Amino acid sequence: MKLAVSGKGGVGKTTFAALLIRTLNDRGKHVLAIDADPDANLAAALGIPNADKITPIAEMKDLIFERTEARPGSIGGFFKLNPRVDDLPEALSAKLDNIKLMRLGGVQKGGSGCICPESTLLRALVTHIVLARDEVVVMDMEAGIEHLGRATASAVDKLIVVVEPGRRSIDTAEHIHKLASEIGLKTIAVVGNKIRSKKDEEFLKKHLNDFEFLGFIPYDDALIEADLDGVSPFDIDSAAKTYVSEMISILNFS
Ligand SMILES: Nc1ncnc2c1ncn2[C@@H]1O[C@H](COP(=O)(O)OP(=O)(O)OP(=O)(O)O)[C@@H](O)[C@H]1O
Ligand SMILES: [Mg+2]
Repeated sequence: MKLAVSGKGGVGKTTFAALLIRTLNDRGKHVLAIDADPDANLAAALGIPNADKITPIAEMKDLIFERTEARPGSIGGFFKLNPRVDDLPEALSAKLDNIKLMRLGGVQKGGSGCICPESTLLRALVTHIVLARDEVVVMDMEAGIEHLGRATASAVDKLIVVVEPGRRSIDTAEHIHKLASEIGLKTIAVVGNKIRSKKDEEFLKKHLNDFEFLGFIPYDDALIEADLDGVSPFDIDSAAKTYVSEMISILNFS
């Protein structure tokens, strides 16, 4: 099962991804967690110690050079378009129980569609992870889903778009929907987060009536406190866990 989590900034992608991954881990699943959002910290939300010390792959200059035979930042020169990446999930992930976490990091975009050693390595890695790995894969992505090329997108079992009750979050969901269909990713589901009332739920259902809803997560101050304290949302007492658990049943992990 390969899942990608996307949505507008701040809607709760990382919180949801962390709850999903920790719950699956609790049920004995092996999960490869991919932090594909340059600004995010999925490792901290998972409760991995020293999360801020994990170097993103995009910043591993020696590795990028070794694998692509070109210096990071160089554009237009020669480099390997198919760098070896199959050993990287084992070698470079931070571990917690049965969870392996990889931070991809960001690539400086030089003009439109940067083709540089670091983006080539990341693209090859994501393709490998989605196409060739046996374990459950959960990717925490930014609002854009550009890490997913056509070849990869078709192998993603579900793109989960997190939304909150608000117009901009809905606009972003529609935008992601469009991007997804352009790259051939058809299975999309929505998670309504930060729900304060039945009215919030109805608002989302009304405005996103062409989406499948995986479920809703109530607004909970305890999640914000956990974030501020650097504690995983899974390690606190929050109803959110129960709701995410129900969503996992719907997703039907074999
Ligand atoms: N159900 C909820 N109730 C209350 N607060 C929540 C809920 N879900 C997430 N939050 C809080 O909202 C903030 C943003 O959450 P999170 O970092 O998970 O969002 P994100 O979409 O990953 O953000 P970014 O786009 O910056 O990566 C955090 O403070 C988090 O604790
Ligand atoms: Mg995030």
